[in-house]
Amino acid sequence: MAMNVTQKIIAAHLVSGSLKAGSPIAIRIDQTLTQDATGTMAYLQFEALGLPRVRTELSVSYVDHNMLQSGFENADDHRFLQSFAAKYGVHFSRPGNGICHQVHLERFSKPGGTLLGSDSHTPTSGGAGMLAIGAGGLDIALAMGGLPFNLNMPEVVGVKLTGKLQPFVSAKDIILEVLRRKTVKGGVGKVFEYFGPGVAHLSVPERATITNMGAELGATTSVFPSDAVTQSYLTAQGRATTWSEWVADADATYDEVLEIDLDALEPLIACPHSPDNVKKVREIADTKVAQVAIGSCTNSSYTDLMTVAQMLKGKVVADGVSLGVSPGSRQVMEMVTKDGGLLDFIGAGSRILESACGPCIGMGFAPPTQGVSVRSFNRNFYGRSGTKNAEVYLASPETCAACALTGEITDPRDLGLAPIHVPLPGQFLVDDRMVLAPAPEGSDVEIIRGPNIAKLPTGKAAPARLEGEVLIRLEDDITTDHIMPAGAKVLPLRSNLPAISEFVFHMVDETFPSRAKASGGGFIVAGHNYGQGSSREHAALAPRYLGVRGVLVQSFARIHLANLINFGILPLTFVHSEDYAKVQAADQLSLDLTGLALGKTLMLRDDTQGLDIEVMPQLGSDRDLELILKGGALSWASEQLEQVS
Ligand code: F3S
Repeated sequence: MAMNVTQKIIAAHLVSGSLKAGSPIAIRIDQTLTQDATGTMAYLQFEALGLPRVRTELSVSYVDHNMLQSGFENADDHRFLQSFAAKYGVHFSRPGNGICHQVHLERFSKPGGTLLGSDSHTPTSGGAGMLAIGAGGLDIALAMGGLPFNLNMPEVVGVKLTGKLQPFVSAKDIILEVLRRKTVKGGVGKVFEYFGPGVAHLSVPERATITNMGAELGATTSVFPSDAVTQSYLTAQGRATTWSEWVADADATYDEVLEIDLDALEPLIACPHSPDNVKKVREIADTKVAQVAIGSCTNSSYTDLMTVAQMLKGKVVADGVSLGVSPGSRQVMEMVTKDGGLLDFIGAGSRILESACGPCIGMGFAPPTQGVSVRSFNRNFYGRSGTKNAEVYLASPETCAACALTGEITDPRDLGLAPIHVPLPGQFLVDDRMVLAPAPEGSDVEIIRGPNIAKLPTGKAAPARLEGEVLIRLEDDITTDHIMPAGAKVLPLRSNLPAISEFVFHMVDETFPSRAKASGGGFIVAGHNYGQGSSREHAALAPRYLGVRGVLVQSFARIHLANLINFGILPLTFVHSEDYAKVQAADQLSLDLTGLALGKTLMLRDDTQGLDIEVMPQLGSDRDLELILKGGALSWASEQLEQVS
């Protein structure tokens, strides 16, 4: 059978199932990655499994999110992660070494391999021909234990690129165009695979910008072929032997094909407050800008920053603008410094931030009140920047630089600059001393636990009947940021479940945690695409800790759905969508679980309205059903691992 790249990689890793789109499959995972904000919990979960060492080919623990050390919490977490990694066989990328996805692309990505990461932008390594999927920390813990990853065989959308990008139009504009056409809901259950003659004109970091932000489509992942471009990138990273060719067969087919003519593409910008609210930059030109941030796992490569540096060279940012630049990795920082870009940034009045996520999650560079912030990042959900009423726009580094110089939203082509082409270096500066290899024998290593590392409560089996009130009723497109906010106050508490649970739904209703605890649990009701955004498993774990046992919505975002099941919260959808309007906040609901089975609807009773409502449990496999009945995945997984041992 002729196969595309996605099918080839999956076939090479298939443990069970078939390549029929939509059918349940399990795949072997070669590599895992975690970042500190999700990693502490993933490692606490791995520890609970009772294994002596990880069983993956390679696992890497990064520290890039919680960098502010205004108290002991983050520093304690970093130390816990480092000692854990040494003991259990995980490589540790020290704070300062860079953003997980950028570093992983540079130093560990492997064409044709599988990577599971506890961060939704794990698909970044798809730029190097890897099948890289974001998942909850628990799935990562299980993969580290040697268990396969379960998912439904995705449909494959072929994105055919023709032509060549024109000056000041960039890879970011390609993914913004895909988002404009497909929206944040358009990728669920799909892999976006790029092909066509335009692919050869895109470097690996450019490809990685596209696969990174493919996460905003809700896609399982995005992938580029591994070709001669990939080979020269890996060779320049000193990793020529990692390369292998992974290209689609000439007669491969796709479930759907999108075509983008790169010659005709213009600079685009995602307007507040969604990455798919995309317009041409020229359509909203002249909007006043207060802040510009360049960096993040989407756009902070060497070429991104050197292009911006050349645009800023000899100029100063506009009076009303604060410009922050965060290089994606230590490698990028060192090379931009060595090649003179850093001087151009400093000369232009930029604030140089460390190689970390920083402003992307409101850490240390939040916009002013109602301020317009233009960012080379991937997300602009309400409140994510750290300022609730900020207006965040997402654009290419070139558009960001143009906005910084003029103080208004500006198409970079309108600056009248000569075209800039920064070639990819023939040899990157390679120095892996900030990645610590694990101890050869872990048994002697002691794990360092500060007071911010709280023990995990164990899940209780599901009761025969779920009862409780509607604790909150929400609209469409509720993000994991709404459910479990990020930000400087909350993020340090990721390893402290009782403390972080006090922030659930804080942006929507600050009384939620106290009401949930007082009523001993209950239901969340919402519209479509519930849980879109990050892989943040605390958005399931913390509501569960507060007693939530059921979430009833019109539809779910993929990773959040998996997280709910993992933590024993029953995900339900309305069979008749008009019922959504009938269920109100504070209604008393009850659901008999004795007939819980795959693909079978249940009748939920709304005692307050006097209604019976048909609901569908969103369980995709026998495994999902077992997890719900056992009250979560940890106890289930311990049994599975005993069988593997
Ligand atoms: Fe970090 Fe933002 Fe990427 S939080 S991993 S830079 S999406």
